[in-house]
Amino acid sequence: MNLRSPCLARIAALLLAMPAVAFALPPGFLDLRDTGPVHGNADAVRDRLEACSACHGRDGVSPVPIFPSIGGMPVEYLYWQLVEFQREADPESPMTALVMTLGDQDLRDYATWYAAQKPVAPAAVDAVADERIARIFREGDVAAGIPPCSGCHGADAGGHPLATSEPRYRLYPPLRGQHAAYLAQRLKDFRDGKNLVTSNDRIMHGVAEHISDEDAQALADWLQAMAR
Ligand code: HEC
Ligand code: HEC
Repeated sequence: MNLRSPCLARIAALLLAMPAVAFALPPGFLDLRDTGPVHGNADAVRDRLEACSACHGRDGVSPVPIFPSIGGMPVEYLYWQLVEFQREADPESPMTALVMTLGDQDLRDYATWYAAQKPVAPAAVDAVADERIARIFREGDVAAGIPPCSGCHGADAGGHPLATSEPRYRLYPPLRGQHAAYLAQRLKDFRDGKNLVTSNDRIMHGVAEHISDEDAQALADWLQAMAR
């Protein structure tokens, strides 16, 4: 190709610029594709846990099904969720008022506390033997256009397979043992495009687009029944 020709040179320049254009996020979006490790000081919030423990438990095991259990989740995931609550200012979420008065270091410290808690298995739940749902989790549903969950959340739903080596994959949360009511609600919110604030929210929006209410509930029941 003769790049000295002005026309070809312009096409070449356009082609070079294309990937950036194709993957650009709308203004205001948080791009989490290249995030690093998060560090905080758990001791700094030890005496300030009442702000959270009524809903999430002191050790991060929530007593109420619509409040997520957060103990033992990756610090990076917890921190960025808190940042997101500050950003989106969703008036419907009880989290909004709680995080608005907190500084960035507080968010890191709370995330560090809860990440360090050992998840305790919730009261025994009967394993859900649902082979169709297990297959959607492992292999997706090609006909419906649902990708496999396991590729991003791990074969055992314990988190992304690359989470130990790459911090950005710690933003792909473990799902096993989480309250079903919470998981089902999140899936429907992603599907319906509610509060899409980050690149990761958009990923889940694409994933959940074709999930029915029934399958969201069935996936959530199946995941809850896996011990944490
Ligand atoms: C009044 C109840 C309540 C209190 C108090 C509360 N939370 Fe939450 N939290 C929720 C609910 C409900 C959600 C789920 C998101 C939603 O529905 O808005 C949530 C979600 C979260 C998440 C995201 C979990 C996930 O899996 O994505 C984190 C992290 C979190 N809370 C941390 C905290 C911290 C830290 C505190 C204390 C500063 C706190 N919460 C106080 C109710 C509460
Ligand atoms: C391409 C990667 C990818 C695939 C495939 C994927 N997820 Fe996700 N999922 C993510 C990411 C990234 C997040 C974090 C979104 C955020 O920051 O809130 C997430 C978050 C979630 C959450 C919210 C968890 C919480 O604690 O709030 C649920 C529920 C969920 N995914 C369920 C599923 C199910 C069920 C499937 C299979 C049908 C699936 N995901 C497939 C990447 C993926």
